[in-house]
Amino acid sequence: MSAIRLDKYLADMGLGTRSEIRKAVRSGLVTVDGQPVRDPGLRVEKTADIAFDGKPVGYEDLVYYMLHKPAGVITATEDARQETVLDLIREEKTRRDLFPVGRLDKDTEGLLLITNDGQLAHRLLSPARHVDKRYFARVRGHLGPEEVRRFEEGIVLEDFTALPALLTILSDGPVSEALVTVREGKFHQVRRMFAALDREVVYLKRLSMGSLQLDEDLPRGACRRLSREEIGRLRMEAGLE
Ligand code: URA
Repeated sequence: MSAIRLDKYLADMGLGTRSEIRKAVRSGLVTVDGQPVRDPGLRVEKTADIAFDGKPVGYEDLVYYMLHKPAGVITATEDARQETVLDLIREEKTRRDLFPVGRLDKDTEGLLLITNDGQLAHRLLSPARHVDKRYFARVRGHLGPEEVRRFEEGIVLEDFTALPALLTILSDGPVSEALVTVREGKFHQVRRMFAALDREVVYLKRLSMGSLQLDEDLPRGACRRLSREEIGRLRMEAGLE
């Protein structure tokens, strides 16, 4: 059993900042095993029956969010000048030990998994696991069978040769649209693969990572908890269950 301070327990579960929580506890809003408690420093078991303003809380060690990352926000936990993906999650007043799994460029939109499950993150990002990432891309220039073939062969970049990738053309024109599935997550990978074919990516959005699909009902900049099923499938893909 692991006991933690009551104020940390409640802050971890997203019920406010530590100082807001201390105030709430002192004012008698919190009960532990049915008894009102006014000491925010009280050590409680994670399995204790804790209620905040009459509502049961329940402690979770591992949490998982899907963020619909908007363009213009950087994939970092903190930055002195620029807004980060964690700033978007923190608006939900949640715990402080979260980090993004992999990164999207500042201009890229779409699915970003944010968690405190280091083991899952490590596995999903491990090059050996080849977890597929699917993107929607809009590029300047035509796309046709030649580009599909080049993606399939594995595009040679300055510092590495990309693994075979799947290019599905959605529309062909002066500006074309396609779905791209890659197995790696190297820096600027999709943009660099298109650049190697003289195509400039003008819009990029990640749609999925392994079995996890961006929820299209989630507005840009919003996040939601993953469902139990989504977590189970991801952990299975990562070889953790
Ligand atoms: N590939 C890129 O070029 N950028 C991203 O953000 C993700 C994949």
